[in-house]
Amino acid sequence: MKLFNVYPLYDITPVKGNDVFVYDNKGVEYLDLYGGHAVISIGHAHPKYVSNIQEQVAKLGFYSNAIHNPLQKELAEKLGELSGCDSYNLFLCNSGAEANENALKVASFVTGKSRVISFRNSFHGRTSATVAATDNPKIVAPINAQQKVTFLELGDIDSVKTELEKGDVCAVILEFIQGVGGLDETTAEFYENVDTLCKANNTFLIADEVQAGYGRTGNFFAFQAYNVTPDVISMAKGMGNGFPIGGILLHPSIEAWFGMLGTTFGGNHLACAAGIAVLDVMKDESLMEHVKVLSEYFKKKATEIPGVKTIKGRGLMLGLEFDFEVAELRKKLIYDYHIFTGSAKNKKLLRILPPLTVQKEHIDTFLTALKSILQPV
Ligand SMILES: Cc1ncc(COP(=O)(O)O)c(C=O)c1O
Repeated sequence: MKLFNVYPLYDITPVKGNDVFVYDNKGVEYLDLYGGHAVISIGHAHPKYVSNIQEQVAKLGFYSNAIHNPLQKELAEKLGELSGCDSYNLFLCNSGAEANENALKVASFVTGKSRVISFRNSFHGRTSATVAATDNPKIVAPINAQQKVTFLELGDIDSVKTELEKGDVCAVILEFIQGVGGLDETTAEFYENVDTLCKANNTFLIADEVQAGYGRTGNFFAFQAYNVTPDVISMAKGMGNGFPIGGILLHPSIEAWFGMLGTTFGGNHLACAAGIAVLDVMKDESLMEHVKVLSEYFKKKATEIPGVKTIKGRGLMLGLEFDFEVAELRKKLIYDYHIFTGSAKNKKLLRILPPLTVQKEHIDTFLTALKSILQPV
């Protein structure tokens, strides 16, 4: 049987990982400044992560959500403490799209409405409602197009006001810093006004923290840089350090009823063991503080790189924008210098999404490589 061929591949086969490095089947070491697309939070094969998962799978890997699972409670408590969102309630699922799909569903259940406001250049996933709320017509199938979604320009508060006052919008879904789109952000005033308008119009504010959450920006959630109170917060990528787990945090004003949401695999024992290890390591190793320090270091040093037009992003969700497309540059970094980096919808943006454990010396290695590609001697 062949694989359904939907991914263009780099010709590399990683077989092992250790902290910020991965190793291919020929033993070549790669510096991972991509984190498998912002997924690796506490580093590859962190000993605490490995032992938590190994011990759990040897005891009980899975049972359904029809029984008590104390690991879900432990995860919720630790997440509440570290994120500062302890008054919210947690629902666990398996991926970012699923988290957003559930967030939109709850918004629609509670408000009784069905139109969604999303923003240009957003990415929210590939399931039915999330792909419709994603600004990329190429990945929207006719069956998804029946969803009612209106795309607005990020920062255009007048349009948000006009649309919400029509009274039929169940949710505004927002990446407080855009990931796939290319690290765009707008003003605190805009975000805070959106929050106010949502509250005035019986519309949910959904913070899509699938990529920016879990400490990546230096705050636990990216929205925490602003004075806003989302109704639902969606999470996934950094949450399991590669183990598939996602979730939503629901504001305490949202009432649950039996059967409102559900999943077979979401919140299973093994996923919780992975998720608990991530939170423990983030706390024990003060990773959010570390992110802030490393981010400053990167931004300062990156100003020395020739040809960088803009340094974008927050925390370790960073990008270097050039006045040329970066596909060839990324290839050179991978094949000649053994460094993984990321791309964006903005083809001129090189993205840096390392494990949150990355050190200054790794950033130096990357910037030296970049300099020698851009300014050969
Ligand atoms: C902001 C954001 N939301 C949602 C998703 C979808 O997550 P998943 O691929 O886990 O379904 C992504 C994935 O890149 C994302 O960046």
